[in-house]
Amino acid sequence: MPKIQIKNVNKTYEDPDGNPVDAIDIINLDIEDGEFVSIVGPSGCGKSTLVEIVAGLQKQTKGEVFIGDNPVTGPSREIGVVFQDAALFPWKTVKKNILYGMEIARIPESEQEEKLQQYLDLMNLKGFENKYPSQLSGGMRQRAGIARALIMNPKVTLMDEPFSAVDHLTKCTLQEELVRIHQKEKKTVLFVTHDINEAVFLSDRVILLSPRPSVIQKEYRINAPHPRSRTDDYLVHVASEIVADISRGAITQDSDYII
Ligand SMILES: Nc1ncnc2c1ncn2[C@@H]1O[C@H](COP(=O)(O)OP(=O)(O)OP(=O)(O)O)[C@@H](O)[C@H]1O
Ligand SMILES: [Mg+2]
Repeated sequence: MPKIQIKNVNKTYEDPDGNPVDAIDIINLDIEDGEFVSIVGPSGCGKSTLVEIVAGLQKQTKGEVFIGDNPVTGPSREIGVVFQDAALFPWKTVKKNILYGMEIARIPESEQEEKLQQYLDLMNLKGFENKYPSQLSGGMRQRAGIARALIMNPKVTLMDEPFSAVDHLTKCTLQEELVRIHQKEKKTVLFVTHDINEAVFLSDRVILLSPRPSVIQKEYRINAPHPRSRTDDYLVHVASEIVADISRGAITQDSDYII
């Protein structure tokens, strides 16, 4: 059974004058357990809306979302979410930020401490646990935000442009760390990005959405083992194909990667 099932999801917002804004026309998507799927598509096509619906932070107008057997009815500990801006609590230290979910869940302190050390290590944040977010670089804040989500060991992680606000080098490092964690933990990830190379580098599958109101325009399976090289001919070729498809707008050509 797929880990995430997005079934006939449609979302219509209302603008301040009460007029409908169709964000998502209809999306059907199954994501397998342990799969890493990226969503790309033009700005405003409803990517964040879809993430918020899957996270239970926003209600769809029509359709259903399941995590395993369970319909999504609101936020859940099973689902970790990382946004573009790490959104750490400025008044809490890195340690307190990372442990926030564990404290709420009343996890015993010894277990919290053990997990904290593990994630400080994993995210290269050792030595910064008693600093406040304002004392960190953007990339470090983002790593702390990712640690805060992953430390809860969610079955599903949703990431909405998590690396878009960090510099190129940090972004590459974070991508490599994410691949390493995913290879190790094999949890299910739904990842939104504008960066096609990033999507191709990270994912098992890339989903291209159409302009708003969105439908799935095309899917690409990325059949390459990890760790991947950014300059790998196959990956470069798939990325250029996706870019070409986006700039074409209308999809006409067949390709080996289309599912
Ligand atoms: N709360 C809201 N009320 C009304 N309209 C909204 C609301 N949130 C989003 N929208 C509209 O829904 C559409 C989809 O927005 P969304 O943020 O999901 O797009 P996106 O694909 O994530 O864009 P970007 O790539 O720029 O982040 C947009 O037209 C946006 O203006
Ligand atoms: Mg968005």
